[in-house]
Amino acid sequence: MGKQLFLILNSIILNSIILWRWSSITICRAYSQNQTDRVALAFFKNAIHEDPLGVLSSWNDSTHHCEWQGVLCRKRHPGRVTSLVLRSQGLKGFLSPYVGNLSFLRVIILQNNSFHGEIPPQIGNLLRLRVLYLSNNSFGGLIPSNLSRCSNLEILNLVDNRLVGGIHSDLGSLTRLKLLGLSTNSLVGPIPHSIGNLLLLRQLSLANNALSGEIPEELSRLERLILFQLSSNKLIGEVPAGILNFSDITIFSVAYNQLWGSFLNDVGTTSPSLYFLSTTDNLFTGMIPSTLTNTTGLRELYLDHNNFHGPIPKNLGRLKGLYFISFCYNHLQDDLSFISSLVNCSNLNAIAVRGNLIHGSLPKSFCNLSTSIHRIDMLENQIQGTLPSAIGNLFNLSALGLSNNFLISRISDSIGGLYKLQQLVLAGNMLTGEIPSSIGNITLLNLLDLSFNIFQGYIPQSLDNCKQLIGLDLSNNNLIGSAPVEILSLSSLTIVLSIANNNLSGSLPLQVGSLKNLGILDLSHNRLTGFIPTSISECLVLELLHLEANSFHGQIPEALRPLRGL
Ligand SMILES: *[C@@H]1O[C@H](CO)[C@@H](O)[C@H](O)[C@H]1NC(C)=O
Ligand SMILES: *[C@@H]1O[C@H](CO)[C@@H](O)[C@H](O)[C@H]1NC(C)=O
Ligand SMILES: *[C@@H]1O[C@H](CO)[C@@H](O)[C@H](O)[C@H]1NC(C)=O
Ligand SMILES: *[C@@H]1O[C@H](CO)[C@@H](O)[C@H](O)[C@H]1NC(C)=O
Ligand SMILES: *[C@@H]1O[C@H](CO)[C@@H](O)[C@H](O)[C@H]1NC(C)=O
Ligand SMILES: *[C@@H]1O[C@H](CO)[C@@H](O)[C@H](O)[C@H]1NC(C)=O
Ligand SMILES: *[C@@H]1O[C@H](CO)[C@@H](O)[C@H](O)[C@H]1NC(C)=O
Ligand SMILES: *[C@@H]1O[C@H](CO)[C@@H](O)[C@H](O)[C@H]1NC(C)=O
Ligand SMILES: *[C@@H]1O[C@H](CO)[C@@H](O)[C@H](O)[C@H]1NC(C)=O
Ligand SMILES: *[C@@H]1O[C@H](CO)[C@@H](O)[C@H](O)[C@H]1NC(C)=O
Ligand SMILES: *[C@@H]1O[C@H](CO)[C@@H](O)[C@H](O)[C@H]1NC(C)=O
Ligand SMILES: *[C@@H]1O[C@H](CO)[C@@H](O)[C@H](O)[C@H]1NC(C)=O
Repeated sequence: MGKQLFLILNSIILNSIILWRWSSITICRAYSQNQTDRVALAFFKNAIHEDPLGVLSSWNDSTHHCEWQGVLCRKRHPGRVTSLVLRSQGLKGFLSPYVGNLSFLRVIILQNNSFHGEIPPQIGNLLRLRVLYLSNNSFGGLIPSNLSRCSNLEILNLVDNRLVGGIHSDLGSLTRLKLLGLSTNSLVGPIPHSIGNLLLLRQLSLANNALSGEIPEELSRLERLILFQLSSNKLIGEVPAGILNFSDITIFSVAYNQLWGSFLNDVGTTSPSLYFLSTTDNLFTGMIPSTLTNTTGLRELYLDHNNFHGPIPKNLGRLKGLYFISFCYNHLQDDLSFISSLVNCSNLNAIAVRGNLIHGSLPKSFCNLSTSIHRIDMLENQIQGTLPSAIGNLFNLSALGLSNNFLISRISDSIGGLYKLQQLVLAGNMLTGEIPSSIGNITLLNLLDLSFNIFQGYIPQSLDNCKQLIGLDLSNNNLIGSAPVEILSLSSLTIVLSIANNNLSGSLPLQVGSLKNLGILDLSHNRLTGFIPTSISECLVLELLHLEANSFHGQIPEALRPLRGL
């Protein structure tokens, strides 16, 4: 309605004699103001050289510029542009400096286009600007220091561009900012202390840059933060005390830096909303404090690749909403008793504790974990005892990894109940008995690694049901019998097929030529006999072929000679 009215007024003023009754000064001012915006928009359009969705085709002479798609004016200042909203339009080009003449602009939203070149410093003339979304474009150059003149800015989102240089400390004068997003650029230098003046800030995201130096102490004043994202920079030093002491903090990540100290001790007492916490890949020390479980909303906890030591809190199960816990590669010493406390976490999706000093045997409660669990990664620990037979209860598991532990005894047939399993890696244990033929029931399996155990008996033929297998490693066991034709012809195999270092006998079937996409074939150190079938040269992408230490006779087929490993 309002716009209709503008249009009518517009044509009256431009075309009727009413015009002449107005003082010429008023008219000229009104006219020139409106023209300024129209001209600025025309220059904006001109600087864009690709408009695949044709959004700018409505920007033509036949309509008032307030009618143009993505342009918004307000009644109060007729003809003056207040918003420019053109997100996800595939626009390619420069952002014209003329945009700085749209002096009534409050909102610029150009995110997810292909703007390149510099962010025009003329934007600093837009003193009414509240929202500037330029995220997900290809803007380069520096963050214009003139942006700090836009003292009404509440949202400054420049995430995912190609900005270089430092973060100007003047940005700290934008005290109305609620969101400062500079992630995923190529920014260097320190985080200015002045950012600590942005007391209204709700979201601070500086991740994926090359920022260096320490996290300024002053940031712990940003009590209203809900998102604190500093991951993947070059930050050093300690995380200032109290920085996690924000009552609304929801997402906190300082992953992939070189931070140290034991700041986790501060977590929990006053951050009930914390949902996502990541310290991955730093130099943090200390224990995982049991107070952590006061953050009752915690769903995802990533502490991988640090120097945390001591046990895993036994009350972790207080965090009923836990979804993902990942503590890989620390020095955690635990007897697995934390597992029992997790049985009430009904959304638990993954437990990853690879590369620690976890010992003891898998408790019975292991199989009472929620069936929501998809991923268990406990590789490279000191876990003893057996794989519980009730493991089949965890029927939603898609990855089970227990390689390089001290597991003994047989694997129960019930493993075949894990029919959604895609990766089963149990290498480097002391597992014995036969490989359960029920594994053949796991038809989604794409990686099976049982190497370096003491498995005996025959390779189950049923494995040929696993038509998704891309890697199969049964090497370094005590397997006997022949190498089953069905498996030596599983055309899904692409990465590796190894049955090396067993006691397999018999000859190599012709069908081995079906392994057309296989990179590594290792049959070495067995008792295979007969001729090497020439069909093997149909394995076109083989990079590594090991046949040595068998009793093959005859020639190696010509085509195979250049291969490594022979
Ligand atoms: C001008 O814009 C109007 C919509 O505002 C559109 O209907 C018309 O097709 C456009 N004219 C041209 C030549 O693109
Ligand atoms: C120009 O602005 C004046 C007031 O600033 C307004 O009355 C008039 O309708 C506008 N004209 C156009 C063409 O939008
Ligand atoms: C980004 O823009 C493209 C069109 O250029 C669109 O297909 C895509 O869905 C947009 N992405 C998001 C996250 O909005
Ligand atoms: C608008 O901005 C441009 C470039 O920043 C400038 O050259 C021009 O003089 C400005 N004024 C008007 C009224 O267009
Ligand atoms: C960013 O842009 C690319 C390419 O247009 C698009 O595929 C992607 O979905 C966009 N992402 C966001 C968050 O807008
Ligand atoms: C940047 O701001 C300064 C004043 O702080 C001003 O003199 C200069 O003209 C501005 N630059 C542009 C391109 O608007
Ligand atoms: C955390 O907040 C509480 C209450 O708001 C306060 O008493 C305490 O001193 C804060 N701790 C730090 C380290 O800032
Ligand atoms: C925090 O956790 C500790 C240990 O779990 C507990 O003793 C303490 O009462 C908790 N504090 C709050 C404020 O919930
Ligand atoms: C799990 O929940 C039940 C019922 O709420 C409770 O009795 C039991 O103590 C809880 N177990 C653990 C390990 O927290
Ligand atoms: C596991 O669950 C079953 C039934 O749901 C229950 O009988 C058994 O006591 C539980 N075992 C452990 C160790 O919690
Ligand atoms: C687990 O599997 C069941 C049955 O296939 C399915 O209904 C359920 O949604 C799965 N749970 C999760 C959390 O994926
Ligand atoms: C699972 O495998 C075993 C042994 O190969 C077989 O006897 C059984 O019928 C299979 N079960 C299903 C549900 O396919």
